[in-house]
Amino acid sequence: MNIVLIGFMGTGKTDVGRCLAQRLSWKFFDTDDMIEEQTGCSIADLFAKGGENAFRDLESQTVELLALTDQSVISTGGGVPLRASNMAALEKNGKVVCLTASPDRILERLHLDQSRPLLKTSDPKTRVQTLLAERQTAYSRASVTVSTDGLNVQQVADEILRRIPALST
Ligand code: S3P
Repeated sequence: MNIVLIGFMGTGKTDVGRCLAQRLSWKFFDTDDMIEEQTGCSIADLFAKGGENAFRDLESQTVELLALTDQSVISTGGGVPLRASNMAALEKNGKVVCLTASPDRILERLHLDQSRPLLKTSDPKTRVQTLLAERQTAYSRASVTVSTDGLNVQQVADEILRRIPALST
């Protein structure tokens, strides 16, 4: 089995994923990191050069590979659930956990972060709210949802372990 972390930018998927992988002695993968390693380009450059669709294709290729792994914690880019085929692949051997946070908390976490092309706008708050609304259905596909507001990385990991009893056997 794998654990697949989905959710909006700034909800802590990468930090929580690393922590969970360490606690379980499982492998850790992050789709954005893999794409950057494979292409030698930053996510921002990939968006700038090829546009969002080309990035989504790279993302789907990465997801296909990761879906074949086992005992992995897979932290996904916030847009991975937008393609139902990505989720179908990851669900085959994965328990999907969605991390959520309030728009204010998301903005606080991503404040000054220039690496998210989708948030490079004069009004990031409205963009976050719009994207969250558009993605609500895609994120609700997770079998476990954990609100991260007020929790640190360890506490979010604890909550995930508690909510997936198969992990403690
Ligand atoms: C995106 C989220 C980012 C990254 C890209 C697009 C999105 O990943 O894949 O900027 O569409 O929500 P994080 O969720 O890790 O920030």
